[in-house]
This record gives sequence, structure tokens and C-alpha cells, in this order.
Amino acid sequence: MTLPGSPQVAYRGDRLMLEGCAVTDLAASFGTPLYAYSRSAMLSALSAYQQALEGRDHLICYAVKANSSLAVLQTFAQAGCGFDIVSAGELSRVLAAGAQPSKVVFSGVGKTRAEMRQALDAGVMCFNVESEAELETLSSVATQAGLMARISLRVNPDVDAKTHPYISTGLKGNKFGIAHERAVAVYAHAAALPGIEVVGIDCHIGSQITEISPYLDAVDRVLDLVEAIEATGLRLHHLDLGGGLGITYTDEKPPSAGDLIGALLQRIEARGHGHRKLMFEPGRSLVGNAGVLVAEVLYLKPSDDHDGKNFCIVDAAMNDLMRPAMYEAWMRIVPCRLRDEAPVTYDVVGPVCESGDWLGRDRALAVHAGDHLAVLSAGAYGMSMASNYNTRGRAAEVMVSGAESWLIRERETPAELFRGEHLLPAR
Ligand code: LLP
Repeated sequence: MTLPGSPQVAYRGDRLMLEGCAVTDLAASFGTPLYAYSRSAMLSALSAYQQALEGRDHLICYAVKANSSLAVLQTFAQAGCGFDIVSAGELSRVLAAGAQPSKVVFSGVGKTRAEMRQALDAGVMCFNVESEAELETLSSVATQAGLMARISLRVNPDVDAKTHPYISTGLKGNKFGIAHERAVAVYAHAAALPGIEVVGIDCHIGSQITEISPYLDAVDRVLDLVEAIEATGLRLHHLDLGGGLGITYTDEKPPSAGDLIGALLQRIEARGHGHRKLMFEPGRSLVGNAGVLVAEVLYLKPSDDHDGKNFCIVDAAMNDLMRPAMYEAWMRIVPCRLRDEAPVTYDVVGPVCESGDWLGRDRALAVHAGDHLAVLSAGAYGMSMASNYNTRGRAAEVMVSGAESWLIRERETPAELFRGEHLLPAR
């Protein structure tokens, strides 16, 4: 059986392999629920971007929110990647993982003064500023610190990314970015503020985008702005075109990073902007297909009547992987060891006390209690969105390279879950 997504996740005989490791062996060694990642899948996803931009001034800033585990960040930092962060927490993580601050951009609509100060002290490359009020605050924080904040404005190009409404960010009604019509005036204001140095322009139109055309629409709108802004005498050194490239969960056929960048470069060059530094902030497309969530089947609960639901209850739940519950996302679920039996249709659900706690609906599976299942393409927005709901410790994580595997995050223990909590004083 061939699987969509990454070639590093494939069956060898009846066993699901992640590179040279049988997923059942990983489950036996590290327990479940378990996130397991292929290091070479991550690196080859990154190098597709890097190769497409070879010979040009460019920087890929991995969007940390997709998967912020230290060993993932370390893998990318060692490969020369920069980072797109959205909080002081993410800043601390990338620094702990060995990132160069000069390759870090700070995005997000709600940066606090304290976060701005931390990022200024660390010496991040650029703040992607999302509102005029934020610009004023950043100017004040930088002036107080005696530092200069390099900025891009995140402009909202008002294009339809044709994706799920929750993850579409470049339309007028979204909370993100500065309206296209306001951008020239806000740039002029930025240039006049103390503590602010204008260095670039930024946009991000959404996530899980599977077509090239919304990117071309966005880049056209951004280049219109660049020309209008530079006509006022300002200079923009870099264009940051955001992230958002989709991956294959089921039958989506997103363009490759090479095809996307090729098309963008063609447009950028045709309009005479080929000399500019180009930046991208991919998250999902660097890590999504590299990861699986492994769960053990706890119980099979057949339906009472013949047209009802059969449930396959596993030990992973919505707290481990929010995407199905939150976006009704469809993620492929496969057995870690194939059985030569007729499949039965199940809803794959977790132990959390919510009807929304499901990982997959109406899935044909040949499984027994005690078997392991893998949710594929779970490397992005899986662990990074996990919670402790129902006081469930977060899953362990393992990184695989060839036949080697390393535990990169220990399973959370109950004591860790209430560390920092206090009982009321005895009376
Ligand atoms: N840059 C900015 C400013 C962003 O807001 C995002 C994602 C990215 C880059 C990375 O986008 P990516 O390449 O990963 O599509 N939790 C949702 C996805 C939310 C994306 C939010 N922004 C999901 O699980 O589908």
C-alpha cells in the first residue's frame, strides 16, 4: 500500500516504517500516545525551498508554531534555517535550540511591550508589525531601550487563499495585517518614528493553500505597494511572502515548494524586483508530512444495531491532536501492522469526555485491541497545539533518522501537570 505525503513513511511488508524504524517498535520502546518524526523528511522539505532560492539573497524562516519542539528547531537551525516566532516563549525556544537571532523574525498581532523588549535585546532581524498601534508601542519600547527596531509591515493583500476560513488570514475581514489602502501612509509614519527602521514588507495569506494563484495575486498586490512606497523615497530591502503552502492529507495536490517559488520568481522578475532579498515563513510544509501520531487501540465497541456506529477507542485524543475536533480536519489513519482480515468501518475516538473527541470518522480498518494505529501527516500543528485537557499528560516525542531513534520529549507525568499549582492554606 502506498501512502500519500512523505516517502519516509511507508509500509515494508506488513509493517509501517518511519525511515528505517518500524513504528510498532517505536511504540514498544517509547509507549503511546507518541509523536514520531522523520528527520530526513524535515530536511528534504527545507532543502526544496533552499534549492529553489539558491544563488539569491534569501532566508527561510520556519514558522515555529507548526512544531516548536527543541529538537525540531535544532534540526532546522543546523541546516541554516531562520525562524518566524509569535511570542517570547517561541523566542526562548529558538534561542535554546541554537538559532541565530539575526535570522529570527517576530510576527503576531498582539506582541506585548515585554515581548518586544526581549526580542530587541536578543537582536532579532525584524518585527513584522501588524497595526499602527503596535508600531507606536514598538517605537516607544525601542527608544526606551536605546535600540532600533527593524520592521516590516504585514500588509493584508485582501486575496482569497481558498482554504478553511479558520486558517485564511489575508482577507479584509481577518484580524491580521494592515489594510492595503492604509499601507503607504503607515510606512510614511513608520519612517518618521524614533527607534524604527523600515527594512521590508511582509504578507501571509493563509495556511494549507493548495494552489499557486492566490500567491501570485498576493505578490502582485505587494509589489504594487512596494512601488508606491518606494516612490515616497523609502527603501524596502526584503519581501517576506509568508508561509501557507499546503501538504497532502488525503488527495490534495499542492504545488511543490520548487514550483511555487519558480512561479513567484518569474512574476517578481517580470516586474523588475528580482534583486530583492526574498523570505518565506513555511510551517506546515516543512514538518507536516514528516510526523505521525501513534496510538494504541484500547477497545473496540461495536454498534448495538446494524446501521449504528462502531467505535475504535484509542489512547490518543483531541488533547493530543486538536485538528480533527477543531477544524474537522481529515487526517489519514492507518494500522502500524497490516492484518489480512476484512476491514470494519469505525469512528476512531479518544478517551476525552467530549463527543467532539474524534481523530477520524468512518474509517475502514482491520484492527484488534492492542494494535497500534498511526495518524499520518501529524507533524504540523499536532504537538504544538496539544493541551492537558482531562489532566492528560502530553505525548512523548521521538525523532528518527535511518534506523536510529532519539527520545526528544518525555511523556508528561501527573506531578508535572500540577507543578506550580497551590492548595489553599490549611485552616
Ligand atoms: N507566518 C504567519 C504569520 C502565520 O500566521 C503562519 C500560520 C505561518 C507563517 C505558517 O503557515 P503554514 O506554512 O504552517 O501554513 N493550526 C492550523 C494552522 C494555523 C496557521 C496559522 N498561521 C492547522 O492546524 O491547520
